[in-house]
Amino acid sequence: MQTDTRPIAMLDSGVGGLSILREVRRRLPNENVLYFADQEHVPYGPRDSEEIRRFARGITRFLLELEAKVIVVACNAASAASLYHLRETFPHVPFVGMEPAVKPAVQQTRSGVIGVITTEATYQGELFASVIDRFANGVKVVTQVCPSFVTLVEAGELDTAAARQAAEGYLKPLLEAGIDQLVLGCTHFPFLTPLLQEVAGPKVHIVDPSPAVARQVERVIRLQRNVPDREGLVTFFTSGRLEPFYLLVKRLMDEPIRREQVFRVRWEGDHVVWRGRAP
Ligand code: DGL
Repeated sequence: MQTDTRPIAMLDSGVGGLSILREVRRRLPNENVLYFADQEHVPYGPRDSEEIRRFARGITRFLLELEAKVIVVACNAASAASLYHLRETFPHVPFVGMEPAVKPAVQQTRSGVIGVITTEATYQGELFASVIDRFANGVKVVTQVCPSFVTLVEAGELDTAAARQAAEGYLKPLLEAGIDQLVLGCTHFPFLTPLLQEVAGPKVHIVDPSPAVARQVERVIRLQRNVPDREGLVTFFTSGRLEPFYLLVKRLMDEPIRREQVFRVRWEGDHVVWRGRAP
């Protein structure tokens, strides 16, 4: 059987999806991966769903031009706003999306109260309401929208005084409500895990969905084709500023990243344009 070297593609508003990419790399080191950060438009959280759908569509077209074999919407906000729409618009493309990991938190809670931290777009979307409907099962779910966490992670502020102050403020009502599980409902948030754990204390278990998403990506591609037998290449794109993106990717990934792996693209209307070589 021929191996399938077409890339797995991932998208996010910024560097948040790197939390998923790290897990995908651990599980599937031989796969080529394209990672797209729409930093021209970050944050997605405060935007309305129609606008997020338009971005997700444009990015998907771009990734398909680069022969993506599966598209991972590594962003809760973009999944909430656009996953159904993407599946309808591109019926032949396998998509893997995100939803807040309420199910495992409900299974593990002892206090009967779980916390979900997320962004506006995810909180307001129908997907979140349906997740609560399907999985809350009488457990109390306390939700907190944490918009400044996205901005802090994008600025590389993972443990500054400002990050700590924001974490203390956001977690206070959840801790007062007696949560023992904290669901990270935004892919930027796993980068704040050490800080969140410190603020929440050892009795609160942090539920990070990244490993489960990587397992799902593996299932989808294994169903499709054979695995390449040499190490995969990761190529990064940003619609924002190249240099700060490169430095942040280097810092957040747990593998060496070279400058030649990172490219800038531009939005022209609804299209993403890359004036570079094919990776
Ligand atoms: N990483 C995105 C998510 O999971 C961030 C949302 C945003 O850009 O506000 O929701």
